[in-house]
Amino acid sequence: MAAPHPPRTDDWWRDAVIYQVYPRSFADGDGDGTGDLAGVRARLPHLAELGVDALWFTPWYASPMVDGGYDVADYRAIDPAFGTLDEAEKLIAEAAELGLRVIVDIVPNHVSDQHVWFRQALAAGPGSPERERFHFRPGRGEHGELPPNDWPSQFSGNTWTRVPDGEWYLHLFTPEQPDLNWAHPDVRREHEDILRFWFARGVAGVRIDSAALLTKDPDLRDFTEGVDPHPYIDLDEIHDVYRSWRAVADEYGGVFVGEVWLPDAERFARYLRPDELHTAFNFNFLACPWDPDRLRRTIDDTLAEHAPVNAPATWVLCNHDVTRTATRYGREDTGFDFAKKRFGIPTDLELGTRRARAAALLTLALPGSVYLYQGEELGLPEADVPLDRVQDPMHFRSGGTDPGRDGCRVPLPWEAEAPSYGFGTHAGTEPWLPQPADWGRHAVDRQTADPGSMLALYRTALGVRRAEAALGDGPMRWLPSPEGVLAFARAEDLQCVVNLSGAPVDLPPHTEVLLSSEPLPADGSLPTDTAVWLRT
Ligand code: GLC
Repeated sequence: MAAPHPPRTDDWWRDAVIYQVYPRSFADGDGDGTGDLAGVRARLPHLAELGVDALWFTPWYASPMVDGGYDVADYRAIDPAFGTLDEAEKLIAEAAELGLRVIVDIVPNHVSDQHVWFRQALAAGPGSPERERFHFRPGRGEHGELPPNDWPSQFSGNTWTRVPDGEWYLHLFTPEQPDLNWAHPDVRREHEDILRFWFARGVAGVRIDSAALLTKDPDLRDFTEGVDPHPYIDLDEIHDVYRSWRAVADEYGGVFVGEVWLPDAERFARYLRPDELHTAFNFNFLACPWDPDRLRRTIDDTLAEHAPVNAPATWVLCNHDVTRTATRYGREDTGFDFAKKRFGIPTDLELGTRRARAAALLTLALPGSVYLYQGEELGLPEADVPLDRVQDPMHFRSGGTDPGRDGCRVPLPWEAEAPSYGFGTHAGTEPWLPQPADWGRHAVDRQTADPGSMLALYRTALGVRRAEAALGDGPMRWLPSPEGVLAFARAEDLQCVVNLSGAPVDLPPHTEVLLSSEPLPADGSLPTDTAVWLRT
């Protein structure tokens, strides 16, 4: 087992590599087909050897799992399918022993319809104080038969559901995820308590789900395309919430990463002011196509938007909501857009994987922190999940046109020859989502034995990144380069060069190749869709 990693700096989050664990699909310790905390604990050495600094767990709380756990029934309990609170505390402690910090996921915009508050609200009826914690309203139309407003959902479909007594309640996502009323003091108090509950258990950070959606227009006015402000995205009042959260985090030295999908750089940066969130996911980079000019512009915009608030950038290629990197980069449209997800898009996986390898070295060389989604270190492609096994509500709410997000959530392959590829412990138990027949070729044991594998590339890259003080936080400088080539220096003697030009180019002068995403030919050239880290 690898030795524990010393913390790099006190501001560890400014350049950490954070591994996202989707517990349902990581490793199944009790053999029931669903991943769990026992599975994670058994596999912690894999994460320590990989060389990441922290683990972000998508929600592990008690949940009916209508939206993969983003429908939380009780924040202070672990879902029985995943384990117990006691196991979560052990996991946090064991991870710490290996030098791994833990980040939990809080979903403040909504709760599960099974949460005690919502059940009380339904029982208490119209006009009750219990209903004020949510957005209950009478309907429009002569008999209240029409929803109270026209808001579009974050998942296609309606945002209002009518209850038997005639009132409607708001849900930006599924009907099983009623939105909380953030103008209500109980809602604010409760969440600050939840933060304390988890910080007191030793977690180092909190990821904030749907962070820009919490506050709503007080009159719930209709949505009009192009009219600002939007009635529920990025209202100014939201910053007041995060200022008080920051005060709580500061009591414990905890940090935040916000899920903030906002194309407007200036609005995005407001979330990262010194008394608000520490970091936010960089979705513009995630959505950016594999194109040298677009990538360069996105990198420049990212750094420019973070500089005034002195927040570190984050670099993300993939997560549990989007198409896996190797698949996306192997398609004609290499960008990401929820609205464009369809079945059967032609994919050149070999090309996509080659680009994903180069993208790994690009991303890990940029200034700031990096998020790595489980399976990315194995180069997993998006899996085709048979229609009769699809679980994701995004698929159903799209009327079946959107394949949904299950394809990036398929259980990990650990051992090429074992039942369920080593995901579970019991032969004969089927994983909750089926694994493709060729999953074994991506298995951890096979890749460990292969120095040319994606896993070997990530292990080496993370080791070099840890050893090179200039990587991570700090300045970067673009270097002159041929068209279609991204070249930048992180120190006088350290460069990253990525060739997206479609043809080989000459490597710049150097004393040593620290790492390359593909084997380099003897003629001193850098092949296309290849990245190198050079000592100069
Ligand atoms: C976030 C999560 C996603 C979830 C949604 C609703 O976007 O990443 O998985 O479905 O919020 O909570």
